[in-house]
Amino acid sequence: MTEPTSPTRPLVGRGAELDDIDELLSSVATGGGATVLLEGEAGVGRTRLVEALQGAAELLGVEVCLGRAVGPGAAPYALLSDALLGPSRGRDDRGPVVAELAALLDVLPPERADAPARFARADELFAALVRRRGERGPWVLVLEDVHLADPCTLHLLADLAGEGARPRALTVMTMRGVPHRDELDVVVAGWTRAGARYLELRPLGPAATLELAQCLLNAGVGPALRGVLATAGGNPRLVVDVLRTAEACGVLERSGGVVEAVGTGWLEELDEVGRAHVQHLGPQVLALLGQASVLGASFVVGDLAALAGEPVTECWRTLRHGLAAGVVHARGDRLVFRHDLVRTSLYAGLEAGQRRALHARAAWALRAAGAPAHVVAAHLERAR
Ligand SMILES: Nc1ncnc2c1ncn2[C@@H]1O[C@H](COP(=O)(O)OP(=O)(O)O)[C@@H](O)[C@H]1O
Ligand SMILES: [Mg+2]
Repeated sequence: MTEPTSPTRPLVGRGAELDDIDELLSSVATGGGATVLLEGEAGVGRTRLVEALQGAAELLGVEVCLGRAVGPGAAPYALLSDALLGPSRGRDDRGPVVAELAALLDVLPPERADAPARFARADELFAALVRRRGERGPWVLVLEDVHLADPCTLHLLADLAGEGARPRALTVMTMRGVPHRDELDVVVAGWTRAGARYLELRPLGPAATLELAQCLLNAGVGPALRGVLATAGGNPRLVVDVLRTAEACGVLERSGGVVEAVGTGWLEELDEVGRAHVQHLGPQVLALLGQASVLGASFVVGDLAALAGEPVTECWRTLRHGLAAGVVHARGDRLVFRHDLVRTSLYAGLEAGQRRALHARAAWALRAAGAPAHVVAAHLERAR
């Protein structure tokens, strides 16, 4: 299997997005300005698309400044510093603004309230850098994972939204779906008012999923392996992880240009992949989704509420995190697990006694809701 981090790795199923990017880049190269909010579930390919953008920009001679947020504990302005000050931070060979900023960042306390004047000055200097950068030529500012950005960066991004997109600048912010922290909502709302383009990166369809697997294996895909890949719900990271796991377990067999997975022993290892994919959702959401996994690949929220012993509104409140993360999607009052791989791993993660008790409650809730006798019986069977 091709190492997913190798420079030759494929980009499949994103033709429309690449067209959008090309169009935006050429408008920036000719003096326009634009902002893109690139949103999607974890592993859907935001970073991969940004890499494609970097490649396209390079061809056009447009410079890319890229920063990546690292989450809690980051220094003030960590994301903007990563993008704008780069490796030469601390040296004064990039003009007085950078020199002053570098010196200032070294003496900023962690809290804004402890040195408001210094923070205000840092805001001014960063804003000046962003405003003036376009004078040197067209450029792209990529801020990756802004849902993890430090508060100072978000504060400044919200301020800059009031000025709208700068000429000769393409700003791309990547993020996970809502719900967001309040500070990020302010940034998104501000840039939406300023005319930012919203690009939602959706999971790959079945054909693109298969194409991705074929590219990574450099071979056709046998029916059993295809079946497992279908449980990845079109999430490229899950596709990559399924193949990695199969390879690590030594179950891939190649014959006549086709790769097939033999046996079922390795499927348990996949539970870890599924669990890792949703870990960021936190215990409350995971507990409710774990209960939902007992009801099957799709379920009625009212039934889950009865099963969990919670009001329906409370369930929705918790589930919206799962919806935003793309773990489940809504069809009326019904929710569907997007990746069966994830549902199976949540189910497998239930402790045996708890699983039996949940099946018993499911039988009771479904019977009360008028479900057919054989469905109720199947739950009772598993409750024993
Ligand atoms: N369209 C795609 N074609 C091929 N591989 C992809 C595609 N999208 C994502 N990948 C691969 O899937 C994995 C996860 O993608 P990544 O861009 O890191 O996701 P995100 O940044 O949205 O969490 C990476 O190994 C990446 O190379
Ligand atoms: Mg990423």
